[in-house]
Amino acid sequence: MNPKICIVGSANIDQIAYVEKTPSDGETVFGNSYQMGFGGKGANQAVMAGILGAEVYMICCLGSDVYKDMTIENFNKNNVNTEYIQTVEGSSGVAPIWVDGSGQNRIIVIPGANDLIDAEKAINSLETIGMIDVLVGQFEIPLQVNESVFEYAHSNGVQTILNPAPANKPSEKLLECTSWFIPNEIEFEEIYGSTFNETNLLNFSKSINSNIVVTLGENGCAFVDNGKVEILGTKQVTAVDTTGAGDAFVGAFSYALGMKLPIIDSLQLALEKATNSVTKKGTQSSYRN
Ligand code: RIB
Repeated sequence: MNPKICIVGSANIDQIAYVEKTPSDGETVFGNSYQMGFGGKGANQAVMAGILGAEVYMICCLGSDVYKDMTIENFNKNNVNTEYIQTVEGSSGVAPIWVDGSGQNRIIVIPGANDLIDAEKAINSLETIGMIDVLVGQFEIPLQVNESVFEYAHSNGVQTILNPAPANKPSEKLLECTSWFIPNEIEFEEIYGSTFNETNLLNFSKSINSNIVVTLGENGCAFVDNGKVEILGTKQVTAVDTTGAGDAFVGAFSYALGMKLPIIDSLQLALEKATNSVTKKGTQSSYRN
């Protein structure tokens, strides 16, 4: 049986400029190429889970522009249910992105409709969808919406994954309803208030009830198992574009969790999908093998 997964989060149109070296203040440079594609942390995670074969429900909010139809069509092509997508007047989310010669990205998100997602409608959608295996959230929509849907999922015995990206401190209420907390290294540092290292990870882990995994880019990921920090490495590749790699990780992990795979296997699948994605240009366009 395919796992039933619901992603509540953002959908953006990514506008990616590839450039050897990103410009300094006041500088103009020539880029190598440009591409537009589908992005948004929530949408990316949904598409990865959909590609892997999960039954995925996307709850997001789109504007009244051309991006709305394009985004819905893209979800449908990627095995993501679009019946519960909300719409409002105005612009959909967009994300201008710079990717440099080493594949590193700098992202600006203009949330648009993402900021107007309605918590009550999201809960109604969850009620209609019925029992799900995993609910996933990130921080590109208002915190209060995450709190409502996580509380609903938690009280219905559903496993939840919180990816605190872009970095923001989760409220106590949200963390209490989180089964898996998955920041990257930078987000960990912002939230914990000190550098990422094994001692700090262990201390943070003791202060919350959730399981914790920290993604470490080319160094794999760290997680706490039975009070001990474990590091899982990943294969070394030449990075072309790291945009959306963290989302590939979370989307694949949600699928594996829904499939009830052992945790190590789930993390390995997530690392494999994230690592493969950095070898290709684009966000969701880098997710298929
Ligand atoms: O994590 C990558 C994503 O961040 C991009 O797709 C962009 O839209 C922003 O949401």
